Amino acid sequence: MKNKSRRPWIGGNWKMFKTIPETLDFIRELLAGMPNPIRTEVVIAPPFTAQHALGREIQGGPVQMAAQNVHWADEGAFTGEISTRMLRDAGCAYCIIGHSERRHLFGETDAQVRQKLLACLKAGLKPVLCVGETLEEREGDKIQDVITRQVQEAVQGLSLEDMAQGVIAYEPVWAIGTGRSATPAAAQEVHAFIRRLLEDRFNKTLAMEKRIVYGGSVTPENIRDLYAEPDIDGALVGGASLKPEKFLALIKEVN
Ligand code: PGA
Repeated sequence: MKNKSRRPWIGGNWKMFKTIPETLDFIRELLAGMPNPIRTEVVIAPPFTAQHALGREIQGGPVQMAAQNVHWADEGAFTGEISTRMLRDAGCAYCIIGHSERRHLFGETDAQVRQKLLACLKAGLKPVLCVGETLEEREGDKIQDVITRQVQEAVQGLSLEDMAQGVIAYEPVWAIGTGRSATPAAAQEVHAFIRRLLEDRFNKTLAMEKRIVYGGSVTPENIRDLYAEPDIDGALVGGASLKPEKFLALIKEVN
């Protein structure tokens, strides 16, 4: 049985897609079609260039904004980087941290993920902490080792209050952008494992209350079965978040 106190969470990770006009067209259509009442927490992570425009459109409404990445320093000579303060300024409430594309294409390490997580918490940005194994790690029976390392290195020493912020996204690398989602049972197994890790490291209440969402080829067609699993609290969605009608369909399935 799912713990009903955990509000469903649906996030759209737009990656390197959409200009400012495209962002505005999307958000207007989305807001016009949002279910009412809305129980689901809805979050969109546009590219940096569209944040300011999106931030203005969503003010006071049911949609929140996330950044896709952040630097851990407050400010400084870091060409091409963005600080937590700049993200807050543009209207972000959340920040995606440690997405597998950052880890694997741009060499982000567990230590950097931790620094980013700490910077976000200090600034009042809620983290979307991404973890997940590669196909090789899965086939080598290393899922639990990898997830344990990624979670523990990111959250070691955090207070319960900090741990309660934001969500954890389980995103198996082999399922991202491949059209090959994890089966609900396979995803559930890892979600339950993450919850046990949280219980061991922190306590049962935190583990029961923490939202853990699934990511990797989520679509309006497969979300229902994924969300039916007791430990899956929503989804972080790439491809299917780019079309308002698909993103709305996802929201409606869990709302
Ligand atoms: P996908 O991406 O839904 O296109 O597989 C998910 C993600 O990268 O968060």
